[in-house]
Amino acid sequence: MTISSHRNLAIILGLILAGLVSLFSLIGLDINHVDFYKYIIVEFLSVFLVAYILIYFAVRGLIDKKIKPIYKIINAGNKTGTEFYKDLEDKNLVSEVEREVAIWAGKKVREIDQLKKMEKYRKEFLGNVSHELKTPIFNIQGYILTLLDGGLEDVTINRKDLERTEKSVNRLISIVEDLEKISRLESGQLELQYENFNILDLVKEVFELQEMRARNKNIKFCLLSNEKAVMVNADRKKILDVLANLIINSINYGQENGKTTVEIFDMDNQILVEVSDTGIGIAEKHLSRLFERFYRVDKSRSSNEGGTGLGLAIVKHIIEAHDQHVSVRSNEGKGSSFGFTLSKSKPTQK
Ligand SMILES: Nc1ncnc2c1ncn2[C@@H]1O[C@H](COP(=O)(O)OP(=O)(O)OP(=O)(O)O)[C@@H](O)[C@H]1O
Ligand SMILES: [Mg+2]
Repeated sequence: MTISSHRNLAIILGLILAGLVSLFSLIGLDINHVDFYKYIIVEFLSVFLVAYILIYFAVRGLIDKKIKPIYKIINAGNKTGTEFYKDLEDKNLVSEVEREVAIWAGKKVREIDQLKKMEKYRKEFLGNVSHELKTPIFNIQGYILTLLDGGLEDVTINRKDLERTEKSVNRLISIVEDLEKISRLESGQLELQYENFNILDLVKEVFELQEMRARNKNIKFCLLSNEKAVMVNADRKKILDVLANLIINSINYGQENGKTTVEIFDMDNQILVEVSDTGIGIAEKHLSRLFERFYRVDKSRSSNEGGTGLGLAIVKHIIEAHDQHVSVRSNEGKGSSFGFTLSKSKPTQK
């Protein structure tokens, strides 16, 4: 019902009422009286006017009391009183409110779904965090109890137990650091410090840092690029983190006597960095979930390697914060390839 139609309603009802009253008054009036028509017309017009005003304001009062509050709620107070009445002039009020209520209800259902999803995610996250922290904490507790139970005096045990305790403490520190990194990346608190640098130098730096780890498994490092220097514009420290995560994975999930290759491809304004290994590979069904926090292909296997399942989630966050892409290809039993893009440094920035 638009404002004009509730005006129409007042007119129609006013006319009917005025007609009826005039009709009844006809019964008691003399049709031959000189003022007969004058009287009827005056009566008709006065009844019509009074009825029109009463009906008009009654309907408007009803709208103000019942419909306007609903309209205000669904528009979350976005509309002023004047805008509301302006809306009424253009729209069919009842169907408009009905339509808006349906849209509003749909929006609320989606919001509730989203909140439920986030709640599930939060619960899962808390569960995962406590699960990951439990192992090193229980280990530390075990070593301390052995030391307290007389191990402290036993030279064959005390040093070994303290070394194991230290290892578990380091594991706790690394989990907490990873969680901190993730939460800072996710809340957008971490600002990227863009600079121009040679990605080949950075790869060599990470190779040096991980040399010991690779030597333990007799894994060879190899860097392939057609250029001597490939300048990129990115946050050097964060990209070092990315490369370290991918190269450590290539060793942890690589085969003994294998090879880790980093290859740089030129792609116009970007470069593609690909870290490939000759390791155990990943089955197709896991690939889409690999970058989720805490996701591990084989929990028992990677806990032997000390993995928390946060490394690739951090990699993805860092690369996406640079507005770049990360991807994975793998051949189960043969090896995997993780690639990410970076933007080249512009000539003027060099
Ligand atoms: N190069 C690889 N080859 C085979 N599997 C891999 C490779 N990289 C990652 N994965 C699989 O993906 C999972 C997730 O890797 P991610 O680096 O996120 O976690 P993680 O290595 O288990 O722990 P961390 O948080 O210490 O890195 C690993 O547990 C492993 O199962
Ligand atoms: Mg890892």
